[in-house]
Amino acid sequence: ALPIIIDTDPGQDDCIAILLALASPELQVLGLTTVAGNVSAPQTARNALRICALAKRRDLPVFAGCERPLLNQPYHAPEIHGESGLDGAHLPEPRTKLQPRHAVDWLVETLMSRDEPTTIVAVAPLTNIAMALRREPRIADKIKRLVIMGGALRVGGNMTPAAEFNVFVDPHAAAIVFDSDIDIALFPLDVTWKVRVRYEHVERLRAAKGAAAHTVADLMDFYLGTEAMAQSGQDKGAPLHDACAIAWLIDPTLFRGSRLSVRVETGSPLTLGQTLPDWRGLWDRPANVEAFEDADAPRILDLLIQRLGKL
Ligand code: BDR
Ligand code: CA
Repeated sequence: ALPIIIDTDPGQDDCIAILLALASPELQVLGLTTVAGNVSAPQTARNALRICALAKRRDLPVFAGCERPLLNQPYHAPEIHGESGLDGAHLPEPRTKLQPRHAVDWLVETLMSRDEPTTIVAVAPLTNIAMALRREPRIADKIKRLVIMGGALRVGGNMTPAAEFNVFVDPHAAAIVFDSDIDIALFPLDVTWKVRVRYEHVERLRAAKGAAAHTVADLMDFYLGTEAMAQSGQDKGAPLHDACAIAWLIDPTLFRGSRLSVRVETGSPLTLGQTLPDWRGLWDRPANVEAFEDADAPRILDLLIQRLGKL
């Protein structure tokens, strides 16, 4: 199994992504690191513990990370994920405690001490990852690949006409990460907006076995009423953003993309947090990003429903 660390701000789609990873024998989740994003930092940490309780994974360590973006004021999205971040479902109370160490310290120590470079899946504002890179630049060589949900290349943002939420919340952290030479697999809105859950998927999950599938059905039901309504109209479904990053690690044939260089706007008030792709290779820098734009949505949703039914 591929060892991974998930950096997350649960969040409905984060929860679904984490459960999909835990349900998949192809992946070995070494730990969860949490960060402020969809809800406050204490709340994302608590939500990660509740997800571990739901998955009956007392062995899975959770490390709480940065409580606010590098420079900007904290920004949350309760209108999409609810006040708790996981509104709509009854997750169990935490059965384990947070690890005593800060997420950034644990990331640095873990990456530096492992023989083989490790894959990180970052589905939240990139504050923890940027802080770890500044704290110990040598981790760049110890990251096999950074799988990021974030940004928008051709389609415009979901926060502003230019910016997607994760990059908008901490554009300076994202700039540090995209300016590093780490190999990045990027799942921007271009592709995640193509992978949408609808009520038919909620019904299939309700019919599947197990508490995890039923909890995800409840989360999706809520999220269909907020994310879909906010962005596109309920009948079009709600995008499964973060779960795309995990689905790709399980089966790379589910997505198609191309290699290019991407940088992040941090100066302009109008386009703050825009992810700017160099489609024609005009910058003199390596194309270190594999940017995904297409997905086989029906197969991804089948995979999700099948795996969650087994958890
Ligand atoms: C991203 O923002 C968050 O609300 C979601 O969890 C996802 O990571 C989508 O823009
Ligand atoms: Ca997220």
